[in-house]
Amino acid sequence: MDRGCFIASLAALVSAPAVAVSPKPAKTFDAMALPKAELHLHIEGTLEPELIFTIAGRNGIRLDYPNVEALREAYNFSDLQSFLDVYYHAMEALRVERDYYELTTAYLKRAQSQGVRHAEIFFDPQAHTKRGVALAVVVEGISSALADGRKNFGITSRLIMCFLRDMPSDSAMATLESALPHKDRIVGVGLDSAERGNPPSKFTAVFDRARAEGFLTVAHAGEEAGPEYVWEALDLLKVSRVDHGVRSLEDPKLVARLVAERMPLTVCPLSNVRLRVVPSLAAHPLKRMIDAGLMCTCNSDDPAYFGGYVGDNFVQTATALSLSNQQLIALARNSFEASFIDEALRRQYLAELDSVSL
Ligand code: HPA
Ligand code: ZN
Repeated sequence: MDRGCFIASLAALVSAPAVAVSPKPAKTFDAMALPKAELHLHIEGTLEPELIFTIAGRNGIRLDYPNVEALREAYNFSDLQSFLDVYYHAMEALRVERDYYELTTAYLKRAQSQGVRHAEIFFDPQAHTKRGVALAVVVEGISSALADGRKNFGITSRLIMCFLRDMPSDSAMATLESALPHKDRIVGVGLDSAERGNPPSKFTAVFDRARAEGFLTVAHAGEEAGPEYVWEALDLLKVSRVDHGVRSLEDPKLVARLVAERMPLTVCPLSNVRLRVVPSLAAHPLKRMIDAGLMCTCNSDDPAYFGGYVGDNFVQTATALSLSNQQLIALARNSFEASFIDEALRRQYLAELDSVSL
């Protein structure tokens, strides 16, 4: 190197800015990827329109809607009942084990992309048996997909059968009895469908029997009907979780009880907006419920109908309510704490959650 060149390179070295040690850009917090359990999910509510038409075509079933677009147009619900009408109609496509297997597998695949590690899945036996589909077909199709889902998607699961509360309690009791041979695949019983006028007290004897048979119990309450239904779910049905429960806030005594018992509430924000339980996501009570000390979880309910799966519920609600990262992690933590899994698995999931950095 000649002298001029040496000096030039020396000068360049001296004037070179110090090696930039800019702080590592803060990793944006990813609520979608946050490890979580989904505790309020109707498997029939994950039936996407495309799959409905594929299965209906295969089974030679004519639906009231000519195509996917027309069906989607019907997804402008005014209340719970207007949703249930479409939901029960669409599931008429389901007939054979393969249909239930494909439905469940499609859900698990989507759930995996939304951070779900564990899913507790509702199904509505009476909505199938009343159309002549045997309970064994439904249970086998769903539960074999759940078993494969553990291998293929790394998602663990539990199955909960819900009674349709707008049907007579005798039908629920008969359904419970017919499910006893499948007891090893079903961890609990729940209560769903049209809430108003069908209080938990209508099913006290059914739930007594279910608990005597070793089932855990949950119930939809305080979604469209008021806090008195939540009281009944606690006192009469002896539930381990309340599904929805958003109207509990109307009763301070009930809130105190739920807080004292650390009773989990499986809140479904996008569902509440679509079924007009609340006017908008920004007006959703989830943050107020958290602030009141309630043990809330965040779930999707019927994601094919309500505009988002569970990760979408986390992300959209966080934005609308300005939830902090700590609050989102607490929701995920609650989901594992409230789930019906064994303690070793719970510890494993909580440890994974603890490794998420803010
Ligand atoms: N509420 C009551 N019943 C249901 C729902 C719901 O959101 N989804 C499916 N069945
Ligand atoms: Zn529900």
